[in-house]
Amino acid sequence: MPESVDGTHALAPSLADELAAFDDFGTPTTVGVTEVDGPSGRVSVDTFTNEFWTSKQRVANRLHEISYRACFKPQLPRFFIDRLTGAGDVVYDPFMGRGTTPLEAALAGRVPVGCDVNPLSEILVRPRLEPPGLDDVEARLAEIDFGWSGGPASTGEPRDVPDDDLLVFYHPDTLGALSALRGYLLARDAEGTLDAVDRWIRMVAISRLTGHSSGFFSVYTMPPNQAVSAESQRKINERRGQSPPRRDVRELILKKSRVLLSGVGDAERGVLASIWERSLLLTGSAAATPEVADGSVALVVTSPPFLDVVDYARDNWLRCWFCGISADEVPVTIVHDLSAWQEAMTDVFLELARVLHAGGHIAFEVGEVRAGTLKLEEAVLPCGLRAGLVPVLVLINDQEFTKTANCWGVSNRAKGTNTNRVVLFQKR
Ligand SMILES: C[S@@+](CC[C@H](N)C(=O)[O-])C[C@H]1O[C@@H](n2cnc3c(N)ncnc32)[C@H](O)[C@@H]1O
Repeated sequence: MPESVDGTHALAPSLADELAAFDDFGTPTTVGVTEVDGPSGRVSVDTFTNEFWTSKQRVANRLHEISYRACFKPQLPRFFIDRLTGAGDVVYDPFMGRGTTPLEAALAGRVPVGCDVNPLSEILVRPRLEPPGLDDVEARLAEIDFGWSGGPASTGEPRDVPDDDLLVFYHPDTLGALSALRGYLLARDAEGTLDAVDRWIRMVAISRLTGHSSGFFSVYTMPPNQAVSAESQRKINERRGQSPPRRDVRELILKKSRVLLSGVGDAERGVLASIWERSLLLTGSAAATPEVADGSVALVVTSPPFLDVVDYARDNWLRCWFCGISADEVPVTIVHDLSAWQEAMTDVFLELARVLHAGGHIAFEVGEVRAGTLKLEEAVLPCGLRAGLVPVLVLINDQEFTKTANCWGVSNRAKGTNTNRVVLFQKR
């Protein structure tokens, strides 16, 4: 075994041993070492590389099937939840995105806590922690008036997008129905009557706004997990000689609801219902979460923005429009400079060290960026050390570049991240 920082082997010996011996998918683990300069000298951390989770594994619950830029697979949080927590423990993601960690935690009978600076996240996550019955969704969809009287689809509010920009994605009739639904949801939200069924319908509608097949409201567009600008879509339409086809908004929402809810049987409903009251979903900065009590969290599984690789606010502009969120005003962390990014991450680690209980863990997932020349795990280790956390190990999940891994929207190995690189810290 390579040398480690003091005490690291004593903190999680069984996980390190398990990773070293792991060969569930037929390949032995490679054991190496990651070396970095810490605040008090050189630090070496054991590093385990293998295919630890894989597309060959059991399929994850279908409730996860909401696309989101740079989401991770449910198998990633599950790997750590199973090994580092017990029933009823609190599992937290301070950069929750579509909520892969909180949802997987809840399905495993852990208490989910999540935070994201974009209000869109809570809108995507909450309805799947309290899923309604399909009958209730169908009945509500039948009640909602999808008719639009014509004229401009906009309601005149400041967050509106010009109709001309929306009509490059949607047939005028589809845009009419979407605008009617949007108006209904915004009005219910403003008057405080938005309920769990409305929230579900809003979440499903957001997931259908743009994509590459007839299962989406839009004309063909790529990639599916983000909206290109209206200008880019104009060019896509010209190149493909296409114009937006008419879509049945109500029917597509029902169809997608059927798929998502197929993962929710009596057992899942029971687990989610028992957990829901204790869950906590926040909108704000990962570095300032006073709502999360000191020492309350057993495990953090998270993936931060990787420098400036993804512009989460711009990519989500159409989803934000639908929800009445001003995408330009969402203060996402997006920095080009590595040391500025490390400062921001150190602030987050300080906050995570506060909310973790003694012995609790952080699995912090990063990637190779800048064509593999920058390994972010090496940049992350000093940040955790500065916050007083103990680096336990680095786990590298080296996986074939599958369709799901391609939720990065990048299909070129040289350009994108094709491994999950997880730095595991522990609070003493
Ligand atoms: C890599 S994505 C997380 C994806 C998530 N693991 C999933 O599976 O969906 C990073 C997320 O961090 C959010 N974010 C960016 N800056 C933030 C900040 N300062 N505080 C909290 N969240 C932030 C973005 O909105 C984005 O949703």
